[in-house]
Amino acid sequence: ASSSQDHNQHFLQCLTDQFQHSNLDPSNVIHTPKDASYDSLLHTQNRRPASTFPLRPLLIITPYHKREIKAVIYCSKKLRAQIRVRSGGHDYEGLSYSSKVPFVILDLRNFRSISINTKDKTAWVEAGATLGQLYYTIARHSKTLAFTAGVCPTVGVGGHISGGGYGMMSRKHSIAVDHVIDAKVMNVDGQILDRRCMSEDLFWAIRGGGGASFGIVLAWKVELITVPETVTVFNVSRTSEHNATHLVHRWQYVAEKIDENLLLRLFLRSFVSPILGKRTIQASFTSLYLGRVHHLLPIMQEKFPELGLVENDCTEMSWIDSVLFFAGVRNESLDILLNRNPPRRPYFKGKSDYVKQPIPINGLKGIWKFLHEEAEIRAELELSPYGGVLSNYSESETPFPHRAGNIFMIHYGIAWNRPGNIALEKHMNWIRRLYSYMAPYVSKNPRAAYSNYRDLDLGMNNEGNTSYEQASVWALKYFRNNFNRLVHVKTQIDPSNFFRNEQSIPPLLS
Ligand code: FDA
Repeated sequence: ASSSQDHNQHFLQCLTDQFQHSNLDPSNVIHTPKDASYDSLLHTQNRRPASTFPLRPLLIITPYHKREIKAVIYCSKKLRAQIRVRSGGHDYEGLSYSSKVPFVILDLRNFRSISINTKDKTAWVEAGATLGQLYYTIARHSKTLAFTAGVCPTVGVGGHISGGGYGMMSRKHSIAVDHVIDAKVMNVDGQILDRRCMSEDLFWAIRGGGGASFGIVLAWKVELITVPETVTVFNVSRTSEHNATHLVHRWQYVAEKIDENLLLRLFLRSFVSPILGKRTIQASFTSLYLGRVHHLLPIMQEKFPELGLVENDCTEMSWIDSVLFFAGVRNESLDILLNRNPPRRPYFKGKSDYVKQPIPINGLKGIWKFLHEEAEIRAELELSPYGGVLSNYSESETPFPHRAGNIFMIHYGIAWNRPGNIALEKHMNWIRRLYSYMAPYVSKNPRAAYSNYRDLDLGMNNEGNTSYEQASVWALKYFRNNFNRLVHVKTQIDPSNFFRNEQSIPPLLS
């Protein structure tokens, strides 16, 4: 404890000196464990990572100026502490706010300004802004401009965009990284690089390879997309008693090929139906169509008549209202999009898979058994269709390699409230058994995964050096053949491996 206090004091001293030297005011920026602000800043939506990483940060820094960030890099290098950069704090394994070795949190919540240029349809977005704030700000400027990225408004653009960014318009407009046209990144020497002065390799790497391996992303410049003034949404649920198994099976043949203006997302869970008075499977088809309902209905009638979609199931609205709809927000003003606090899921674990061949009916029935297994489990599978323009990009265009040939991505999620190891083990065991059951039905060699749904079960780096071979175990799943180029960029940009975490790209060992 005393050596940790010493480390803490040394870091604080170093940072205070650096701030004084640069005429910076440390109040409200440096938060020590003695400050009341420290605990509330540390507070996270998912408490599970704390069971793997009990260490608390030496300090939490919430900078307003780039020079403050530079000072943090300087002191971290000098005192050999890791920096964990946090933008929105949604990392599935908590790597933006926890570590096994002494570290500080650089929390970018005050780096969140957004400037929209409606004329050239672009925006500069600082890394600490949330998706909700970005969507809100765009909607304030225009009814027909939008951005293609994730569904949850409290996700931070810093982490999200550097890992991909899939959302309800991805079949028509692809993912967030495909719309990044410039960026500002602070490197290991504290220099700020934009696209003009960073190498094409680095600009490529941060668009899907995870920013945390290469530097601190300060801001993204993104191109906005054009959407119709009116879009259509629906959320139609069917239970096992109403043909859910057959519909889910059929969906696999439809969702990837259907009109790219339509994204049919599918949520699967087990629940006790008050009408049936028993436990059943519920399949919810949660969908966005970029157009009016009278155009949507004939498409559904032709391609997916089994669902029986009718006009009454559909609602026309603006794109920004659809953002609230998919976030599960009802009867609230748009201002709720500015709220940074994510929904609380005390303990949560997620995993992902890619599916290239439809899962047969028997395979689906096996999934239902898992979903039914534990009455109190809050478990859900989210099936996100690919196809559309996602298939138009080559695998190596960005480090995000999941393009043509993928029918859909599966997100497995489980949340629970009970603290303690018994609950932890039980629920982790459940999701790991389900993942192992799914092996025959999903992509192979490597079994692919989405890096934004970070999963430390796939493998981890050492605390010291990590070889290319060791990191390949997890990295080939996220990046496939792009891993080689990511290692090459890392070796050029950060050979001493200053920016690192349990799943960062390692440099080649000399
Ligand atoms: P956080 O701040 O935790 O950072 C994540 C990682 O990026 C960490 O390694 C961190 O150090 C690094 N990082 C963060 N900011 C950085 C910066 N400025 N420079 C360098 N490195 C930085 N995904 C998706 O594609 N579609 C979706 O719809 C959703 N929905 C969703 C909902 C919920 C409730 C959660 C918890 C997550 C999602 N995601 C998602 C996954 C999400 O995209 C992923 O967790 C992102 O990494 C979150 O980015 P944050 O900035 O919030 O995370």
